[in-house]
Amino acid sequence: MKKWNKDHVINTLPARKPDAHKGTYGTALIAAGSRFMPGAAVLSALACMRSGVGKLEMGIEESVIPYVIQHLPETTFVPGFYERLQNLQLNQYRVLAAGPGREADDETETTVKAFLKSDVPVILDAGALSQRTYIDRKAPVILTPHPGEFLRISDISMEELEENQQQAVTKFAVETGVTLVLKGQQTITAFPDGDVYINTSGNSALSKGGTGDTLTGMITGMLCCHDDWKHAVLNAVYLHGACADEWEKTRSAHTMLAHELSDLLPEVWKKHE
Ligand code: APR
Ligand code: MG
Repeated sequence: MKKWNKDHVINTLPARKPDAHKGTYGTALIAAGSRFMPGAAVLSALACMRSGVGKLEMGIEESVIPYVIQHLPETTFVPGFYERLQNLQLNQYRVLAAGPGREADDETETTVKAFLKSDVPVILDAGALSQRTYIDRKAPVILTPHPGEFLRISDISMEELEENQQQAVTKFAVETGVTLVLKGQQTITAFPDGDVYINTSGNSALSKGGTGDTLTGMITGMLCCHDDWKHAVLNAVYLHGACADEWEKTRSAHTMLAHELSDLLPEVWKKHE
């Protein structure tokens, strides 16, 4: 399997244009968080705003707004998001993401359906993941399951996955027309054209609640600042792992918190520019 390594990242990370304004890098919309999982909204929002986006709007239950604002005063909110979902002009956004901190309930499903009708890239994680096909969609669909979620959304068995991961993920990506980011110790990214890469960064400091929500935010932000969307996905996965590697240089892998990935990202990114 092809590897995505430090040199690839250094060669493909975009510089921030000197004449950029916040419109240059677009507005992302993330639908995340719920009453009992508000932190996932905070984690994905923080990571997104650290990852090159111009502006971030959150589609969020009103009860969760104070938590996000406390940690990230830079973000704004779509008024009455779930009530107004059908009437939102989703094509105004550069990227749409859904799922972190969401149950797979009716509201989440309605959100995903509305997002998929738009013409912009969509990232689906956690509660937004379910069995669907995306073959007719022109803009990229990026799914970010861990193995348990992947088994839930595919007809692939645990045995098949364990026997030949590359074959299983490639088949799924090509047949359903998606980019599949199968998260794990070595995350594999399979594109709908059959291209597949294994990530080379990261360590078990990442095996802690919330790091996946951070990754969703990073992919969302990176899609806004890269011209090549495939590079955006691969670089987000790599830098997410590289932040954990930076942590482990001087601190115990037992102790890292998911939001600390976003604290580490500015320095880690700089080293790859
Ligand atoms: N080595 C390297 N990377 C690892 C390791 C490891 N040993 N263990 C985990 N990771 C990485 C994965 O590659 C992935 O990027 O940590 C991240 C974990 O992501 P998730 O499994 O999605 O974790 P989490 O953020 O807690 O998910 C929260 O999503 O899975 C749902 O129900 C869950 O709603 C919850 C939400
Ligand atoms: Mg997760």
